[in-house]
Amino acid sequence: MESPLNATSPFFLLLFLLLTLLQVPTPCISDPNPLQDFCIPPSPAGKSPGCKDVSAVVSDDFFFDGLAKEGNTNNSFGVGLTQASVVEFPGLNTLGMAIVRIDLAPGGLNPPHSHPRGSELVMVVEGTVLVGFVSTDNVLYQKVAKRGELVIVPKGLVHFQKNMGKGKAVAVAVFDSQFPGVVSSPLSLFRTEPAMDSQLLAKAFRVDGEVISGLLSNFGN
Ligand SMILES: *[C@@H]1O[C@H](CO)[C@@H](O)[C@H](O)[C@H]1NC(C)=O
Repeated sequence: MESPLNATSPFFLLLFLLLTLLQVPTPCISDPNPLQDFCIPPSPAGKSPGCKDVSAVVSDDFFFDGLAKEGNTNNSFGVGLTQASVVEFPGLNTLGMAIVRIDLAPGGLNPPHSHPRGSELVMVVEGTVLVGFVSTDNVLYQKVAKRGELVIVPKGLVHFQKNMGKGKAVAVAVFDSQFPGVVSSPLSLFRTEPAMDSQLLAKAFRVDGEVISGLLSNFGN
């Protein structure tokens, strides 16, 4: 009788087939699903663990009007950012999403920054906005988008939005994270606490110390 461990046996052929199938790259991977419909954090917002008792959950837990109002763009960048992450809108807890309203004055810029925990989908609602991001190969991908048009910013990559029109511009950005986090490229180098060594920065940017001193003082360091 043929041994089941013979290399040409149906057992091995099946195993071979199975291993071949398993090597097909998995095309889609998703976040784990929550085990309940929702998990409204008990107050204070987003800080305490666990969920509010379902009997205490009300419709207002799923409602947020903070993005209805225009953001204040009266600052050196000409940008107003109004966030609805789990911090401002606790109802987002466990749902893997957040949204930001971006108001841009004429010439306004949302300076280069990245979100360590979320990809971003930018939709222009009003005006004309240049949206760009840089890959880990330092390739700059950028598009000018108008009302209703979308631009993707993949997770963790440095990106910006700039108003290219004559009037104000408005965009919304949605994230696949309830708390995507923000790392500002300029602030993470020039307004740290304590300040980063200026000789270190001068070497990194291939400039002399005075250029760095100027940058540090620009950002209040
Ligand atoms: C903008 O901000 C500056 C100071 O930060 C203030 O003096 C000025 O009145 C503000 N302008 C408007 C239109 O709010």
